[in-house]
Amino acid sequence: MDALLQPQTGVELQPERLALPGGRSVLLRPITPADAEAEQAFVGTLSLDSRHKRFHVGLRQLSPDLLRQFTDVDQHDHVALVAQAEDENGRIVADARYVRSAEHPDEAEFAIAVADDWQSLGLGRTLMARLAAHARRAGLAALYGDVLVQNRRMLVLMRGLGATPRPHRQGAHIARVVFDLRAD
Ligand SMILES: CC(C)(COP(=O)(O)OP(=O)(O)OC[C@H]1O[C@@H](n2cnc3c(N)ncnc32)[C@H](O)[C@@H]1OP(=O)(O)O)[C@@H](O)C(=O)NCCC(=O)NCCS
Repeated sequence: MDALLQPQTGVELQPERLALPGGRSVLLRPITPADAEAEQAFVGTLSLDSRHKRFHVGLRQLSPDLLRQFTDVDQHDHVALVAQAEDENGRIVADARYVRSAEHPDEAEFAIAVADDWQSLGLGRTLMARLAAHARRAGLAALYGDVLVQNRRMLVLMRGLGATPRPHRQGAHIARVVFDLRAD
């Protein structure tokens, strides 16, 4: 499969096959507008708990506008990777993305979700690691994300990748997790 070359930065997002424990495998690749239907289906199959952790509200489906924003990305200011199952009719089973801050363009906010029946297989960790590596190559200084403090798995995952949770001005129920990409 061809790599997608990013015209603005020259930084490539290479599609990659990933074998998971239990014999399943996925293709990690940049999202495209052709993924709109699959992306909507992915969000629709997330449990209420996962949707709440991902969006911080119990959103059931993406509005047409949000769906376009999620799938028609420039892979520069908005970078989005999906994991596509190599079985199960090629459904999307994970989505990780970052959006550059308009105020501080060398920083970006990340978000990730893994389909409930594909969690705890290492997919979230690998996708976040790939996203962070891509952000570093693209010259970003930091990735940050707002994580509910009840979301132990995400906090463990991010700590394992070297990110630091910090207090959030919105309250004690949420942490701002900051990934310093300039650190060794
Ligand atoms: C959080 C999420 C992205 C993690 O993805 P995942 O594929 O399930 O995670 P992984 O299998 O890569 O495991 C990540 C880490 O969590 C740990 N972990 C797994 N289950 C855990 C649990 N129940 N409690 C605490 N830690 C747990 C693993 O040990 C692993 O740590 P390691 O990489 O240091 O070994 C995924 O569970 C998800 O999509 N949740 C709903 C949406 C969400 O929370 N998004 C994040 C908000 S931005």
